[in-house]
Amino acid sequence: MLSTDICVRLRNPTLLASGILGISYPVLKRVYEAGAGAVISKSISIEAREGYKNPIIVKTEHGWINAVGLANPGVEYFAKEIENCDIPLIVNLVGSNEEEFGKMVKILDNLKIIAYEINFSCPHVEKVGLEIGDDPELVYKIVKKIRSLSKKPIIVKLGLGSSNMIEIARVANDGGADAITAINTIRAMCIDIDVAKPILSNRIGGLSGAAIKPIAIRCVYELSKAFDIPIIGCGGIKDWRDAIEFILAGASAVQIGSAVSERWLDIFNEINNGIMQYMLRKGYKSIDEMIGIARY
Ligand SMILES: Cc1cc2nc3c(=O)[nH]c(=O)nc-3n(C[C@H](O)[C@H](O)[C@H](O)COP(=O)(O)O)c2cc1C
Repeated sequence: MLSTDICVRLRNPTLLASGILGISYPVLKRVYEAGAGAVISKSISIEAREGYKNPIIVKTEHGWINAVGLANPGVEYFAKEIENCDIPLIVNLVGSNEEEFGKMVKILDNLKIIAYEINFSCPHVEKVGLEIGDDPELVYKIVKKIRSLSKKPIIVKLGLGSSNMIEIARVANDGGADAITAINTIRAMCIDIDVAKPILSNRIGGLSGAAIKPIAIRCVYELSKAFDIPIIGCGGIKDWRDAIEFILAGASAVQIGSAVSERWLDIFNEINNGIMQYMLRKGYKSIDEMIGIARY
């Protein structure tokens, strides 16, 4: 009843969002065993990245602002970490050009991962993420390069940059993307009024959580109207009502990020049970029947 298609079939529509629980395979496996339909790794880059100095995350009234700086141990290390992968794992990749993505895909492609998610949307690191995602030509080249090297599904993760999200989605689609995740965090800032300085060491970070949910819903709605490929909603989802809202706006699945830190791993089963009860009350027999119903 809860299974859904995001270019691969999942047992249910709740995914762990990238960057929330890192890269440790035992931890990711625990999230799957706790009920997630699939799990997504932290963004992996060609070389290890240290990330920014503390403080890297701050809580605000309606969400978190983080600037972790894409800290990760690099693709070679991560490939060893997941060499015995036996769960539906999506690897999120970040890089600066098509050569870097090509090298990473060659290292990972024989592993039992179910898809790649390409981070075109990290809003607080120079020369990767959103800076790349704002360049349609580069987005096209990167997706096309990955497509030429792999048969695995390619999910592009988009955010709110300075270019039109629909245009970036279009070139990604032309390059061979199979699905779109919307959205990443949104550039934001917080000041400590006692010391009169920004709280985060990087000064600017990305806002996640409840505050960004209506923006994410709007993006999913617009993307799902414009494209026939699956859209995966992400941004501020904390319960089954939020998840249903995304599905009715056009999402085939949802990712849960910040709310995991509040509800821990129970959140996946809670949301899945809530979706199922809603479907029983409303007479829906499949997730497919609900996708985009609020879209006109
Ligand atoms: C601490 C933290 C680290 C994150 N790291 C990544 C990352 O490495 N790659 C990525 O694509 N998104 C990353 N994100 C963004 C989330 O995957 C998600 O898109 C965003 O937080 C919005 O969802 P939420 O409101 O449910 O948290 C991170 C978010 C947070 C809060």
